[in-house]
Amino acid sequence: MVNRVPNIDGGYSRKGVLKDKPRSMLKSWKMILLYLKNHKAVFLFSMFMVGVESLLTVFAPNYISEITDLISDGLYSGVIDLEKVSYYGLIILGLYLFGTIAMFLRNYLMADLSQHVAREMRNDMQEKMDRLPLKFFDTCRKGDVMSRFTNDADTVASALNRSMAVFVHGIVLLVLCSAMMLLTDVTLSAVCMITVFAGMGLSSIVVKRTQKYYRSQQRNLGRMYGFISELYSAHDIAMAYSASRLNKKEFDSVNEELRASGFRSEITMGLLPAVMRFFGNLGYIAVCIVGSVMVLEGSITIGTVVAFIFFVKIYMGPLDMISSSLGNIQAAGAGAERIRDFLSAEEMDPEKEGVTAGSVRGSVEFRNVCFGYLEGEETLKNLTFSVKPGQKIAIVGHTGAGKTTIVNLLMRFYEIGSGEITIDGISIGDMSRRYLRSLFCIVLQDSWLFDGTLRENIAYCSDAGDAEILEACRSVGLDRLVESLPDGLDTRIRSGTGFSGGQKQQICIARALLDKSPMLILDEATSSVDTRTEVLIQNAIDRLAAGRTSFVIAHRLSTVRNADLILVIRDGSVVQMGTHSSLLEKDGEYRRIYRSQFDPLRSFTVKYQVLLTGSVPA
Ligand SMILES: Nc1ncnc2c1ncn2[C@@H]1O[C@H](COP(=O)(O)OP(=O)(O)OP(=O)(O)O)[C@@H](O)[C@H]1O
Ligand SMILES: [Mg+2]
Repeated sequence: MVNRVPNIDGGYSRKGVLKDKPRSMLKSWKMILLYLKNHKAVFLFSMFMVGVESLLTVFAPNYISEITDLISDGLYSGVIDLEKVSYYGLIILGLYLFGTIAMFLRNYLMADLSQHVAREMRNDMQEKMDRLPLKFFDTCRKGDVMSRFTNDADTVASALNRSMAVFVHGIVLLVLCSAMMLLTDVTLSAVCMITVFAGMGLSSIVVKRTQKYYRSQQRNLGRMYGFISELYSAHDIAMAYSASRLNKKEFDSVNEELRASGFRSEITMGLLPAVMRFFGNLGYIAVCIVGSVMVLEGSITIGTVVAFIFFVKIYMGPLDMISSSLGNIQAAGAGAERIRDFLSAEEMDPEKEGVTAGSVRGSVEFRNVCFGYLEGEETLKNLTFSVKPGQKIAIVGHTGAGKTTIVNLLMRFYEIGSGEITIDGISIGDMSRRYLRSLFCIVLQDSWLFDGTLRENIAYCSDAGDAEILEACRSVGLDRLVESLPDGLDTRIRSGTGFSGGQKQQICIARALLDKSPMLILDEATSSVDTRTEVLIQNAIDRLAAGRTSFVIAHRLSTVRNADLILVIRDGSVVQMGTHSSLLEKDGEYRRIYRSQFDPLRSFTVKYQVLLTGSVPA
């Protein structure tokens, strides 16, 4: 079985096989910086605060050096200038105090900014969703897309909040500290820097190696989301098939990959602080040895050596900061890469201003329409038919014949391959999708209910009041159920649970009854309700369809008998067209389907033949 996984992140091929395609983290960070552009002032102010904080930190050792010299001089002379010591002490206190205020400010601003950036990324992804063709969602796991909205955006936000400022603070501190050291003593500065830069060189190798681990960690998180959302959206089916062992196996494999990639990235990044600390400590030793020799030679004072010991300590700080923030920065790069891939996925053709048909009469024409979901495949072949305003069209045919596909094209859920579909003589390609879809009220084959009250579900996108909603419920036979519910229309529907398949269909039809659109599409709308309820709904639909062009797809021919035109579809082509009586007169597909449902003898023969041959007779 081919694993259906996304091919949107460049890490997936069309066949669903994972490809590890190393790409530049820089590009992903460029995208993050573009988002930061919207908050330039706040970002620059935060970075300014980082600069202030760093500046205040590096000034302190010089005053500590002054105090040390005052004390050591005092030890020789027997008098310590306490006034000066307190003066310098107060300066150091002031520096640390302002440093703390600057740190609080930048933390506050960066927390706010990072959440804004994450929100904008999610907004952009949400808007992108509206521009993506349905075809896109055929090729990806829903959970993986969800993971880009949640996990990847969160990773970027947390890196911006916790690591970006720390990283910049580290760099600024490093530069300032180097400058202060050079101003204090060049030889000791060189000793410090050589050890530190050796450590940094080694770290950069580690960082490069970990990029791929972070990338695969984010991708594995996406896979985990995908797996979990698929599994729990069909939890009952999985249980019915006792698929828990199979699922457990797949879950274990995804979980193990997630653990392994997480472990690899953490362990390699965990090396960084250790490496940096080792080289920092090496710096201490080198400063002590070289410094003592220089004190003995009389070229520097003890205070300078103490100041350098502090400098090494400060130097280790930014190195620690840089090395510990690099992990988050890399994870954010990998997250941003996945968001960037989603945002750059191929979109539907841009919406034109669109022609509107004024007051729609409802004539629909399909002219030589060809379409395939996949390249080289022909799901609909040269489909041609026309519908007059107000007519009821029934589309019948075997499972997989292409009935729903006709609706998909009419609603422009998918774009036609060739040919033309017109409404009142205007090509639907010239209409905006939003306008086109506003012309139809539709009940899809799969009942769709959302988290909300029964009232919200029925009055979806309409401003109907309770009286109208209750009338719609009555029309579809839902009134007794609503009355029996303790909360009535305020009953909460959670992910469609708590209602039977037929009741869900009733709710969807009640929703359609409130829709005032000029045309109607019903795709197997009553397939799950009992025959008595079906008759009731049929009456309501007939009232609704009066004067409106309506398309009714149904396997049960009893529901389409009174249609003005019946299209019989076989393997994507119209094989017969006409009214119920005219089609019954001919020896063809329609009569065969009809007899299999209504002629007891024929029905028995079909069942018998299926049992004997294992296939449906022609
Ligand atoms: N999203 C899709 N991607 C690829 N192929 C698809 C997709 N949707 C449908 N198909 C294929 O197109 C063909 C027509 O499907 P369609 O849903 O139109 O059938 P149908 O006549 O509505 O069947 P049913 O009576 O079972 O609802 C089928 O062979 C199906 O496998
Ligand atoms: Mg269908």
